[in-house]
Amino acid sequence: MNFELNHHQKMIRDMARSFAQNEVKPLATRVDREHHFPVELLPHMAELGFMGMFIPEEWGGSGGDVVSYIVALEEISAACATTGVVMSVNNSLVSDPILKFGTDEQKDKWLKPLASGEKLGCFCLSEPGTGSDAANQATKAERKGDVYILNGTKNWITNGPFADTALIFAMSEPEKGVKGITAFLVDAHRTPGYSVGAIEDKLGICGSATCQIILENAEVPAANVLGEENGGFKVAMSTLDGGRIGIAAQAVGIARAAYEAAREYSKERTAFGGPISQFQAIQFYLADMATRIDAARLMTLRAAHRKDHRRPYGTEAAMAKVFASETANWVATKAVQVHGGNGYSREYPVERHFRDAKITEIYEGTSEIQRVVIARSVLQD
Ligand code: CAA
Repeated sequence: MNFELNHHQKMIRDMARSFAQNEVKPLATRVDREHHFPVELLPHMAELGFMGMFIPEEWGGSGGDVVSYIVALEEISAACATTGVVMSVNNSLVSDPILKFGTDEQKDKWLKPLASGEKLGCFCLSEPGTGSDAANQATKAERKGDVYILNGTKNWITNGPFADTALIFAMSEPEKGVKGITAFLVDAHRTPGYSVGAIEDKLGICGSATCQIILENAEVPAANVLGEENGGFKVAMSTLDGGRIGIAAQAVGIARAAYEAAREYSKERTAFGGPISQFQAIQFYLADMATRIDAARLMTLRAAHRKDHRRPYGTEAAMAKVFASETANWVATKAVQVHGGNGYSREYPVERHFRDAKITEIYEGTSEIQRVVIARSVLQD
């Protein structure tokens, strides 16, 4: 067992850290306050290989491993959680399932531009009436010859207004329930009947442009089915297993940013004749923050390492996500507390970390859903 990153992974971490601190962080306040989608960062992220990090080079990616992706995602998310999720959706939720389930023609057509960062993807599973109960799809896909006609509304779609490619799940044979769902690759620009709906006004990750995607008789070629017809639920679930490692990394990044802000503030802020870092109450907070972040990071890296080594990782991904997201919320709450009144002010970044942390307990499966996944696994043992 080796707890050290290898030479290549350290290089990726250092490159990601430098990009995150020099280019992403300076934009983070604007992204948050103006609900600005960080579109200007995408060309450089593509150039650095961040949009398809573990996709082989032959399919447009940078050919790295999942561990390197996770390490880079922590760095980007520590600087700006919005930019972290934009990157995570493109890598984990769109590129990864095409790599896993796509034909060579589909990889050539859809994966290459996504993994190289030329195009951006979004993942359309949730609906206004369907969140945790993902099998309960109301969006319909009716086969007519060589095409499917899609009708329905998708909700909470990260990257939605800026996406070129949408991975859409729809009920193709409703009478078959969970075994009647199909996954489709949809060209967001050249599919009449596909449109972007309202953009959500959110508590945190304000720049990620979360919207509805509306499908009104949208005609999608049968050649765009990803995986097997009626096999879409497995595509969605196995994709989310990988996505959850990404959200765990995002949570570790947010937690780290909040912790570092609290640590530095505690050294500068004085009370009762000295820096507040001299008080044991503050020291214990910092000690617990550092400990929990370390545990969350190790769990996240373990899940990524298992994915790299083609070992089952769904349970470990769920464990990492639930632990890291709850850590991010705990750490961000305590970081605000260390800042006292200043932590409640928008002048200090901990207030943003506090708001950004919350989503990690909700998307890509709530903490309750992660516990369902973990409980099913432990009860099988
Ligand atoms: N991998 C592959 N197949 C899987 C699987 C997995 N991880 N999990 C389940 N399946 C298969 C099962 O094996 C089963 O097939 P068989 O009968 O052939 O064995 C089939 O799928 C149905 O499985 P379940 O009976 O377990 O299904 P369920 O209806 O009980 O649902 C659930 C299980 C865990 C609750 C699931 O619905 C779930 O994960 N819900 C949460 C959804 C979610 O995470 N949504 C996030 C939205 S995306 C997002 O947030 C996007 C963003 O932009 C950031």
